[in-house]
Amino acid sequence: MYSEKVMDHFQNPRNVGEIENASGVGTVGNAKCGDIMRIYLDIDDNQIIQDCKFKTFGCGAAVATSSMATELVKGKTIEEALKVTNKAVMEALDGLPPVKVHCSLLAEEAIHAALWDYAEKHGIKIEGLSKPKSDIHEDEEDEEEY
Ligand code: FES
Repeated sequence: MYSEKVMDHFQNPRNVGEIENASGVGTVGNAKCGDIMRIYLDIDDNQIIQDCKFKTFGCGAAVATSSMATELVKGKTIEEALKVTNKAVMEALDGLPPVKVHCSLLAEEAIHAALWDYAEKHGIKIEGLSKPKSDIHEDEEDEEEY
């Protein structure tokens, strides 16, 4: 059912963890299953992604796609990172079963959310990047309690 690459990235996920003082952080949730993913980006002054880490509360396909997505965006410019779509990640993993395609969207959305966070923090606009739909802000959740 799963390719060897998917199994490899699921069993030995790359870039799991957090980046302290990350340039951008994006947290997204999958509406279909309730799984959550957070991506941390370390972006240098030349807008090159020096490091990328992720944490996920999700299924095996979400873990494998995040792992591959972090590998694909590392060392890339912001512009190039925007081209790392869920389709590109799935191709790099030699495919996913159709019922698991939605899982691969989490990684793409989390990267976009982290880039959006970076752009907001730096007061810049990233061409071709729109506000993430499912971005989860912990402070917004807190505000709802009042
Ligand atoms: Fe939730 Fe895969 S089933 S991300």
